[in-house]
Amino acid sequence: MADLTTTCAGITSPNPFWLASAPPTNSGLQVQRGFEAGWGGAVWKTLGTPIQNVSSRFGGHSIRGVKGAGFSNIELITDRSLEVNLREIRETKRLFPKHPIIVSLMVETEAEWRDIIKQSIDAGADGLELNFGCPHGMCERGMGSAVGQEPKINERITGWAVSNSTVPVLVKLTPNVSNIVPHGVAAKRGGAHGVSLINTIQSIIGVDIDRFVPEPRVGGAGTNGGYCGSAVKPIALHMVAQLARTTEFGLPISGIGGISNWRDAVEFILLGSSSVQVCTEVMLRGYPVVEDMIHGLSHYMDDHGFATVAEMVGKAVPNFREWGELDLNYETVAKIDASKCIGCQLCVAACHDGAHQCIHPVADTRVPRVDEAECVGCNLCQIVCPVPDCITMEPVENGFARASWNDFSERGTAIRPKKGVHG
Ligand SMILES: Cc1cc2nc3c(=O)[nH]c(=O)nc-3n(C[C@H](O)[C@H](O)[C@H](O)COP(=O)(O)O)c2cc1C
Ligand code: SF4
Ligand code: SF4
Repeated sequence: MADLTTTCAGITSPNPFWLASAPPTNSGLQVQRGFEAGWGGAVWKTLGTPIQNVSSRFGGHSIRGVKGAGFSNIELITDRSLEVNLREIRETKRLFPKHPIIVSLMVETEAEWRDIIKQSIDAGADGLELNFGCPHGMCERGMGSAVGQEPKINERITGWAVSNSTVPVLVKLTPNVSNIVPHGVAAKRGGAHGVSLINTIQSIIGVDIDRFVPEPRVGGAGTNGGYCGSAVKPIALHMVAQLARTTEFGLPISGIGGISNWRDAVEFILLGSSSVQVCTEVMLRGYPVVEDMIHGLSHYMDDHGFATVAEMVGKAVPNFREWGELDLNYETVAKIDASKCIGCQLCVAACHDGAHQCIHPVADTRVPRVDEAECVGCNLCQIVCPVPDCITMEPVENGFARASWNDFSERGTAIRPKKGVHG
């Protein structure tokens, strides 16, 4: 059986699944229930000067009937006193000594950072996470993403934290930047032991179209919130991968953003995360979601011959290439397995209106036909087909050697004639 123990930025946990800093880690009893359910570690709800929250504060984006597939919040850091939080951290650590508690922090001045770091470590923190990511409320006060968006300030505050800490320091990055790399590199320059990403994405989740107010609605007004949940996973994966393949970065990564099952977690690990954090899925379905994540990861590792999580970390990173390095001569066409086709014609509509007009209805059968000479292998039909493995994309042997755009433009390497270009 695979060993799920993982070490991320020097913090070891029995499995890579950590509760992210958010409502599920708001109190000692919650974190304890989380550990009992199987979570490997927990990042405590961000501590700082307690604030006052608004109501309402959450918004959900239903995507084709899945409620909360996208999620938004305008909640701030903890609204409980520092004293109570520290007492509960100490108690939780006493009850679960093998489960790391990473304490998330957000304060302003160097003296405040020094004090809160000391208090957190004294309470038993196994690591610290600097919240440079919150995109609402706190940034207007010069904290959160206001720090994460300024590499020099990020570096300076990380430096303060690291110099005052005896435990590993993770910097939690904001995705509200055009390029994550300078921000990860700034955390490294400041001496961070690792980074966590992503925090939430600045967004407006929707509008109350009868009251004319952006959501979530606080009385008669709304404001921008932070977007998270399944819908943000592709953005988070992109940012994790960008850092993981930056040679000058090279720090451990705790991946966050839209993880709702073991497959999502595997994807984050393969792109360079040595732990993964989850918030929205737990908010929507409760702590037990981790059971399936643990079983799924364990079976995946056994099936693929991974004895440890460390062996998996970053396995897909070398296969990430710039567009200009992709093989222009690699060719696929869509094939329909007639024995599986239910004749819904979704592929016909998609290919005709959204692709290259090469799947055609056939008289006397509901199974459409692919005109392979015109198919550009774009994948759209496979994406819309409701039957697993009914449409597959099959490689075509076209006689052309590998040639990327860079090869073509720099050395004139031959590329195959274009398909699917009409008129
Ligand atoms: C209601 C809510 C409150 C959050 N509070 C915090 C917080 O206090 N500190 C923090 O670093 N991140 C906070 N986050 C961000 C999460 O930790 C996480 O980075 C983000 O939700 C993406 O993960 P997910 O898609 O699994 O939710 C919060 C998220 C939500 C939804
Ligand atoms: S792969 Fe694209 S072009 Fe080919 S049949 Fe499917 S939708 Fe049409
Ligand atoms: S979408 Fe799939 S099931 Fe529907 S007609 Fe096309 S091949 Fe058949």
